[in-house]
Amino acid sequence: MRNSKYLLTLGLIFGLIAGLESCKPDEPPTVGTPGPTTYVLDVPSNWPLGNFIAENPLTNEGVELGRYLFYDPLLSKNSSQSCASCHNQGFGFTDHGLEVSLGSEGAVGTKNAMALFNLNWSSGYFWDGRQSTLESLAGEPITAVHEMNLSLTEAVARLKAHPSYPARFKQAFPDKEITETTLRFAIAQFIRSITSYQSKWDEYVQKTPQNPAAHMTASEARGFNLFLSETGADCRHCHTLNSPFIIDLRENEFANNGLEASPDSGYARVTGKASDIGKFKTPSLRNLAYTAPYMHDGRFATLEEVLDHYDHGFQFSSTLNVNLVKHMDANQQPIPRLSAQDKQDVIAFLKLLNDSTLVTNPKWKSPF
Ligand code: HEC
Ligand code: HEC
Repeated sequence: MRNSKYLLTLGLIFGLIAGLESCKPDEPPTVGTPGPTTYVLDVPSNWPLGNFIAENPLTNEGVELGRYLFYDPLLSKNSSQSCASCHNQGFGFTDHGLEVSLGSEGAVGTKNAMALFNLNWSSGYFWDGRQSTLESLAGEPITAVHEMNLSLTEAVARLKAHPSYPARFKQAFPDKEITETTLRFAIAQFIRSITSYQSKWDEYVQKTPQNPAAHMTASEARGFNLFLSETGADCRHCHTLNSPFIIDLRENEFANNGLEASPDSGYARVTGKASDIGKFKTPSLRNLAYTAPYMHDGRFATLEEVLDHYDHGFQFSSTLNVNLVKHMDANQQPIPRLSAQDKQDVIAFLKLLNDSTLVTNPKWKSPF
């Protein structure tokens, strides 16, 4: 945050100097259209900068343009589907209820739509990590045949011919044309603007960083301890609690959590390494109240099913993460370690990570 602001401020100062120099002393300065203004990202001041890319600084005009594009079915071939059709704010930007997504022309996808928030702090996108920036990602759902199925050339042509987009693009990117790049950049800016940091957990950490459990009910506090404990639920190695990331991606960013005995390629599709077969992006555990069903194929409808999986349902394969292998016996069968009460307590703790502002904040609602 601080760094990006600093760079932007420098940019503005240089811009101003350049502007002054080009202005002849005998002419009154022309009052032009003001350039795009810096968008101030809504996060706690102690959060780190995140993975912004220098070529695409967030501006109010860029984020707003991105919001229009995100909600506009014009970007699908038959004008029936927008990004928001599968990423609905009311459900944490997922398509609640569907195990796998349905495309604009009815094609059945193979993956569960992912929640969209705090993606600035992620560095590999999609379940298999095949995209490394949001700017490069943003074109893929538009062109994907099983999603919006529109070529970017056609998308640009539609935007150029539109009554209001040319002006909006001018405001967001004053010296650029409407191109595939500015289209992708604007959408990426909107996604970067979606943040979630106002759960009860955040509130407790803010109040008492050393002992957030001080504010919890007995059940939530037990769940919190089980989440951390190696002999309990033992979730933290993959879903870390390290502030300020807080249950977002850290050391095991891509992991095999034992969904299949013969898993899909997953992250290996990107790295080409056999040791990455069956690894998928470790999702944030924030906002689970809104984002069911769970896992890359949406196989679990409830958190009870998820807890059963980690207790006794996970399956061995050669790339199964060591943090689960250690909870198996000599025959590679899971050793159940959680009572019914333990599971309920972990779930009670997970509920502290829900942030209702994500699903209600008007900034991220449809502008139409
Ligand atoms: C047909 C439903 C559908 C549409 C439409 C759609 N998405 Fe998605 N989105 C998905 C699915 C499914 C995934 C997971 C895909 C995968 O991993 O292969 C996903 C993943 C993502 C991710 C990755 C999140 C992460 O944590 O890595 C982003 C970002 C995203 N979509 C943005 C968009 C944008 C922007 C648009 C519009 C241009 C869009 N999506 C349109 C279904 C959809
Ligand atoms: C070995 C690392 C690892 C451990 C340990 C682990 N997880 Fe996960 N978790 C993952 C990965 C990877 C995924 C995504 C897997 C997929 O869909 O292919 C995931 C997915 C989930 C999801 C689904 C989220 C969504 O948006 O679909 C939940 C909920 C979850 N884990 C909770 C837990 C809990 C609770 C624990 C402790 C009992 C735990 N996890 C332990 C790695 C792990």
